[in-house]
Amino acid sequence: MPALDSSINVAVIGAGAMGSGIAQVAAQAGHTVYLHDQREGAAAAGRDNTAKILQRRVDKGKMDQQDVDAIVGRIQPVDKLSDIADAGLVIEAIIENLEIKQGLLGDLESLCSDQTILATNTSSISITALGAKMQKPERLVGMHFFNPAPLMALVEVVSGLATDGTVAETVHATALQWGKKPVHATSTPGFIVNRVARPFYAESLRLVQEQAADPATLDALMREAGNFRMGAFELTDLIGHDVNYAVTNSVFNAYYQDTRFLPSLIQQELVEAGRLGRKSGRGFYRYGEGDDRPAA
Ligand code: NAI
Repeated sequence: MPALDSSINVAVIGAGAMGSGIAQVAAQAGHTVYLHDQREGAAAAGRDNTAKILQRRVDKGKMDQQDVDAIVGRIQPVDKLSDIADAGLVIEAIIENLEIKQGLLGDLESLCSDQTILATNTSSISITALGAKMQKPERLVGMHFFNPAPLMALVEVVSGLATDGTVAETVHATALQWGKKPVHATSTPGFIVNRVARPFYAESLRLVQEQAADPATLDALMREAGNFRMGAFELTDLIGHDVNYAVTNSVFNAYYQDTRFLPSLIQQELVEAGRLGRKSGRGFYRYGEGDDRPAA
């Protein structure tokens, strides 16, 4: 199947960490991108944040001002969900919650044409379950980007039981066209990467709980001795503890509460305290204005 042509409009719903990044990726590939968020001002803030990130690349001589202006100009924040009606591909990147995502997908089905591909950036929720209440679940597919979306190459293209093979192929080809490395996956809990990553987070958290070492020591060890890009604590601070905790719960429950996937009380407490990581200014580490490295 061919990739979607860049003349086809893309909509991204949810302008948080992932939605803003995905909007940037699609705009860089030449699409007009509608960016919508239910929080007032969030879509414009997401677009402005992208502009700021790209401006730094101009300042470093890595991008042309003209290209950046064109990319940012293609991202259109929209206040009303109905403003995305002519999109040919909608990617939802809202809160990791089955019922809320199902509600949005229902709204999208009634708004968009029958031909519009509906994609979800869910990290862990079954595509089959997300499609269960849809009239045409065959057009729903997982398009799972990694954080930060503009930098991370991998995209999991996830098929549920009802997903039409040509829809998955079109999304796969489109991700390739957007410069990504897509891989087909099936709708098993956590798909591929989030399944493999569960023990990495869980065992790191257990080591802290058992007071074997503190997060900063473990992160440094994994980076310096293990050659990991990031340790589990700086990585979950980047992902967001609300998101990571929701994903752990989702995988835990999907596997009949298998204790291998047991969510951590430490992470639960961080969520309860609102210490969500970088996005709230504090998680395992504290973050200040302009910081791009954690300060323990
Ligand atoms: P986030 O919390 O940064 O952003 C979510 C945004 O969605 C918020 O701005 C919120 O206002 C908006 N929102 C919530 N409900 C909405 C609705 N009904 N309609 C419109 N907007 C709504 O979350 P993040 O990290 O961007 O995650 C979004 C999705 O992407 C989740 O499904 C998550 O599991 C997935 N994901 C997250 C990754 C990460 O590292 N944070 C990586 C890959 C996927």
